[in-house]
Amino acid sequence: DETKEGVKGLVDTGIKKIPRIFIRPPDEVAEDSKFTCNNNLHVPLIDLGDIRGDQHKKIVDEVRIASESWGFFQVVNHGIPSSVLEEMIKGVREFNEQDHEVRKKFYTRDRARKVRVNSNLDLYRSRAAGWRDSLVISMGSSDIEPEELPAACRTTTVEYIKHVKKLGETLFEVLSEALDLKPDYLRAMACSKECSFVCHYYPACPEPEIALGVKKHSDPSFLTILLQDQIGGLQVLHDNHWVGVHPISGGLVINIGDLLQIISNDKFKSVQHRALVNHIDPRISVACFFLGEGTAVYKPIKELTSEENPPRYRDVGGREFNDKFYSQGIDQKAVLEHFK
Ligand code: SIN
Ligand code: FE2
Repeated sequence: DETKEGVKGLVDTGIKKIPRIFIRPPDEVAEDSKFTCNNNLHVPLIDLGDIRGDQHKKIVDEVRIASESWGFFQVVNHGIPSSVLEEMIKGVREFNEQDHEVRKKFYTRDRARKVRVNSNLDLYRSRAAGWRDSLVISMGSSDIEPEELPAACRTTTVEYIKHVKKLGETLFEVLSEALDLKPDYLRAMACSKECSFVCHYYPACPEPEIALGVKKHSDPSFLTILLQDQIGGLQVLHDNHWVGVHPISGGLVINIGDLLQIISNDKFKSVQHRALVNHIDPRISVACFFLGEGTAVYKPIKELTSEENPPRYRDVGGREFNDKFYSQGIDQKAVLEHFK
């Protein structure tokens, strides 16, 4: 029953030391520390304001460069009102900071439940647990019924989902063009068909230097759209340096996932990242994963391969990929490596 209270429940008991399950193994710490932090580097920032106007080609070029070299970029003027972003963060906060009894009703480790709370999707498959509680909304390709969502963030979540799915469609058009394909190419491959929303709540941590919010990993999606609050903690591995993704008011973080790396035949990079925790403030983020279609089969796009550049991955079923992801800890070998 204790796990049902989540990490937040643990913190509320007033602990000064974190339980052993959250302490990172020394070899993993050593391995990650080989990469030093570089505060002079910044993830590219792309202004999408003129995406349908004169700047269209320039924006496509910026997205191409960012996707090839960083696998991450931030966007502003993306069309989602700041108030919708702020309300979403507030809703996640309220859901997690309300009476535990309400949140506990959503606790389950049953992946068949569309709306569920758990602390770590890979609990006991990774060596250490992440310092976070997550509300997962697995939408598949259908819309979620508002009644299925927690009351504390119901209307804001419905509104947010609607906007993010629309932005996803736009980004897949731009990404198609950035790959020199027709604008509707990736949509026609059903890249944006199924999605999942994961709302993270990282409580303040009494020993932040020996835990992590999320371990180093790459995303198993085609694309991820991430909303983060103003606290900070997300770091991207770039050129052997940890680079902080600094919160931008009204901005969103976009990253390429493993499946887009596969179908682009490694042209676009699914880059490793992690989330730190801190001892002062809780942090909130909301990730939308565009997962493609379970029944589809993916492989490097023909137009992007040639005799000199043969396919680097074998065929992979959407469901097969997802099952592989769930079968292992997120701190383990990148899922895409299994399909080479
Ligand atoms: C994640 O990559 O899974 C979470 C990132 C974040 O909370 O910033
Ligand atoms: Fe991630």
